[in-house]
Amino acid sequence: MTQTTAPVAAPHGASAAGGPAIELRDITIQYERPGQEPLAIVAGYDLDLRRGGLHCLAGRSGSGKTSILRVAAGLVPPTAGTVGWEGLEITGLADDVITAKRRKHIGYLDQRGNLLPGLTALENVLLPALPDRQTRQLARRARDLLEQLGVAGRSGHYPDRLSGGERQRVAFARALLLNPAVVMADEPTASLDRASADALIRMLRTLAANGHAVLVASHDAHLIDAADSRTTLA
Ligand SMILES: Nc1ncnc2c1ncn2[C@@H]1O[C@H](COP(=O)(O)OP(=O)(O)OP(=O)(O)O)[C@@H](O)[C@H]1O
Ligand SMILES: [Mg+2]
Repeated sequence: MTQTTAPVAAPHGASAAGGPAIELRDITIQYERPGQEPLAIVAGYDLDLRRGGLHCLAGRSGSGKTSILRVAAGLVPPTAGTVGWEGLEITGLADDVITAKRRKHIGYLDQRGNLLPGLTALENVLLPALPDRQTRQLARRARDLLEQLGVAGRSGHYPDRLSGGERQRVAFARALLLNPAVVMADEPTASLDRASADALIRMLRTLAANGHAVLVASHDAHLIDAADSRTTLA
């Protein structure tokens, strides 16, 4: 059902740091449907993604890209199989434990770039700093990220005054705020023009070069080409 093309980011088990940043083992994803057989999306899927690697999940709409991202991020458990984060198997851990670990380990940019409507762009970027009361310390970093993403001029704007592409860039800055080991992005170039999309792809490459593991879902041929490895879902 799925096909992973070489090269894989790095050989499994080679890291002394305790395993791949993201390790998916024999993942099956099914959705229950009332009165029908469960909808089988993914079966027997494996992925080892190490720091320094950019992996792209490709495939047609509805093929399961977002489903795999959500499972890899521990947002939903797989129907079967296991998810590991740097040697820690998260499958079966309590939700609040996973949530706390995810906040530090993974920056997740969802398909819609969801921002809280009552907060400005800058306040949205600083949201991940709230639980540790780090908003003051990270304010400079938040502004720098908005600057790098070309939306510094929108810092004080509320989401309803931002374009779709601007909202997505603000959400991307939010995903990067805590400098997570893993950056996941769902269709990150979908609402950007070509020049902005290519700039974002360069940024994803830079993140990988700086030692992050980057996992994206995309139909964008430029992004698929820019990845070190890819999975084409059928
Ligand atoms: N929570 C859910 N309950 C039931 N079915 C779901 C659920 N989430 C997704 N699906 C179905 O699973 C399939 C895969 O969805 P998914 O969102 O993973 O696809 P995708 O590859 O990300 O698509 P797109 O390119 O349109 O974003 C689709 O048929 C979708 O309708
Ligand atoms: Mg999707």
